[in-house]
Amino acid sequence: MITGGSRGIGAGLVRSFAEAGYDVYFTYKSAADKAGELQAELTGKGFAVTSKRVDLERVAEIEELISDTASKEFDVLVNNAAVLKYVDFLTAKVDVWNEAQNVNVRAPFLLSQSFLAHMMERNWGRIINLTSIGGQWGGTLAVPYAVSKAALIGLTRSLAKLGASRGVTVNAVSPGLVGTEILAGEVGTAEYKKKVEGIPLGRIATVEEIAGVILFLAGDAAGYITGQTLNVNGGMYFG
Ligand SMILES: NC(=O)c1ccc[n+]([C@@H]2O[C@H](COP(=O)([O-])OP(=O)(O)OC[C@H]3O[C@@H](n4cnc5c(N)ncnc54)[C@H](OP(=O)(O)O)[C@@H]3O)[C@@H](O)[C@H]2O)c1
Repeated sequence: MITGGSRGIGAGLVRSFAEAGYDVYFTYKSAADKAGELQAELTGKGFAVTSKRVDLERVAEIEELISDTASKEFDVLVNNAAVLKYVDFLTAKVDVWNEAQNVNVRAPFLLSQSFLAHMMERNWGRIINLTSIGGQWGGTLAVPYAVSKAALIGLTRSLAKLGASRGVTVNAVSPGLVGTEILAGEVGTAEYKKKVEGIPLGRIATVEEIAGVILFLAGDAAGYITGQTLNVNGGMYFG
């Protein structure tokens, strides 16, 4: 199960997991055309890919997703979908805060609640949360987003402790900068240019570089890693 599979890193994850032999179920919200094209392309190649429109800000839609998929046995949950709104902290409205917390933290909380229970019954599972460097070093351009990503690290650690005795690992992956639409509001600004120039590896990440790490965490080779935040940031931050 991959949330936000219609675009960006999520679409890369759908592709990588399908090509690695997983049956993939992904969600999207607005980009129905992109989701449909991705599903058609991959099913056309013989991969098992299913998708569903879910607004992760709406609890009822999350509950519907959980009940629709209750009969399936998921090995891996990737909480990837997120919203990032650039706001001036001093004048930011509470709506921006609520949306960031609801989509970026509450939805992973609710999905993990359901998936962890099933995984623990089966004594195997992987939950992987997409956090962000902004949640680690603070993000001045989007404080509600940065706070939500810090909270997701807290959720990761708590669930790692809960799942460990039953074979379920829970980790976070923390990209620095990846060339997707989520950064559209930042690309082209002087601040963004400075950030890219300061990346020790000298460039932003590709979607495939993030997906590869998530695929590794989902597999048997990562069975002894839990509660961690893996930085995939080109050396921008070592914490
Ligand atoms: N790109 C980066 O530089 C970067 C850096 C650090 C961390 N990350 C993290 O990596 C993850 C993926 O980011 P990305 O760059 O791939 O973002 P993206 O290109 O903006 O894609 C976001 C995805 O989330 C979905 N989504 C957004 N709001 C939703 C909602 N209310 N309900 C359901 N789905 C919703 C979108 O679905 P629709 O398009 O269908 O609406 C889309 O599939 C996020 O957790 C992000 O915080 C990214």
